[in-house]
Amino acid sequence: MLHLIPGHSDRPANDPNFALNTEATSRRAAGEHIVNATVGALLHDDGRLALLPTASRVVQEVPPEEWAAYAPIAGSQDFLAGVIGDLFQDEPELRASAVATATPGGSGALRQAITNFIEPGQALLTSSFHWSPYGTLCDESERRLVTYPMFTPDRRLDLDALDRAVTGLLAEQKRVLLVVNDPCHNPTGYSMQLEEWRALVERLLARAKDGPITLLVDVAYLLYGVRPPRAFLRELRPLLGKVGLLFAWSASKSFTHYGLRVGALVACVPEPKERAATEAALSYSCRGTWSNCSRGGMRAIARLLSDPALAAACDRERNDLRALLDRRVAAFNALAPARNIPYPPYEGGFFVTVFTDDAHGRAARMRERGVFVVPLKGVLRVALCSVDERDVARLVDALGDALR
Ligand SMILES: Cc1ncc(COP(=O)(O)O)c(C=O)c1O
Repeated sequence: MLHLIPGHSDRPANDPNFALNTEATSRRAAGEHIVNATVGALLHDDGRLALLPTASRVVQEVPPEEWAAYAPIAGSQDFLAGVIGDLFQDEPELRASAVATATPGGSGALRQAITNFIEPGQALLTSSFHWSPYGTLCDESERRLVTYPMFTPDRRLDLDALDRAVTGLLAEQKRVLLVVNDPCHNPTGYSMQLEEWRALVERLLARAKDGPITLLVDVAYLLYGVRPPRAFLRELRPLLGKVGLLFAWSASKSFTHYGLRVGALVACVPEPKERAATEAALSYSCRGTWSNCSRGGMRAIARLLSDPALAAACDRERNDLRALLDRRVAAFNALAPARNIPYPPYEGGFFVTVFTDDAHGRAARMRERGVFVVPLKGVLRVALCSVDERDVARLVDALGDALR
C-alpha cells in the first residue's frame, strides 16, 4: 500500500538533467569525446569545477565550533549586514529600507518569497522560459506558476505581454508576485538593458494602484553579466514603498560554493512597522522550514563580503572565471549565426537557449554524436559554462545539423 498522499504519489523521480549528465559522464569514461553542455556550474576547460581560491581558503579557515553550532534563526547578523551592504553599496535609500533573512541558497529565498507574498492556490508570475525549479517550488508550497511570453518576434523582452499578465493576475487574485531573473537569465542568457528595467518599473508603477505587486529579482548570476552588476538598482528606486521589492541573493555562483547553501532573501520596505512585520514573517518561515542555515557557511561568506582585501581578491579571481566564460560566449556568437541558429541576444552568462520545435528529438540526435544539451519546451538549453572553449565549434556544428 502506498502511504504517500495521492497528490504526491506520482512525482517525477529524478531531475532529467542528472540523467543526461550521468549518460554523458559514463560515455566519456568509456573513451568517447563527449561535449557535455548540461552542467549548471562553471567548469574549467579540463572539466574541473572552477573555484575562487580565496573563497575556498576562507571556507577552510572557519573554525570547527562555527560549523558545529546552530545559527540564529534569521541568519547571522554579520552575514545579513554583509549581503545588504554589498548589494546596495551604491544605493543608500534601498539599503536603509532593507531587511534580510538567511536562506539555503537562492532556492530558499524563492521558497520564502512564494509562501509569504502569495496565498495558497495563487500563482507566481514569471517568463515563459524560466529556471524549472520555480515550478517545483510553487508545487511544493501549494502555489501555481503562470507565465507570459518572454520575447517579442524580434527577440527582445515582451513587456506588453508582461503588463497584460500583471493586469490579468491582479484582476483574478488581487495580488502579484513577479519573478525576474537577471542578469544572465537562466536558461536564455538574456540580460536586460537599463531602458528595459526603466520600462518595467513604469509598467509596475502604473498597475500598483490596483493591488499589491511584489517584484522579486533573482540575482543568482549577478556577478557574471557584462554590465556593472548593480547599475540596474538605480532604476528600481521609484518602486520603494509602492511596489514590493525583493532580491533572491545567492553565494552559489558569486563565490563558486554551490554546496555551501548560503543565500538570503532581501526585502526593501521603507516604512519601519511594515519592515518589522516583514522581517518577523520571514524569520518565522525560516523556523518553520529549515530552522536555521549553516553558521559556518555564513561566517565564511560574511568575511568575504566585509574584508576589503578578501573581497578584492575574490573580484580578481572571479574576473578570470568570467573571462573564461566570455571566451566561450564569443566563440559561440562568432560561429552560431553562420549556421542559422536562432537564439536571443547573448552577451554572457552560464546558459543560452536555441529556439526550436521538437527539442527532445533534436537533443536526442545530438546525443548520438556525443553532444549533450538539455531539451526544454520550445528550446535547447546550452550550458556554455561547462563546455571547453575548443569544443564550442563542435557544439555549434551539432546544433546546426540538428536544427536542419
Ligand atoms: C535562475 C536561478 N535562480 C536561483 C538558483 C538557485 O541556486 P542556489 O539555490 O544554489 O543559490 C539557480 C541555480 O541554478 C538559478 O539558476
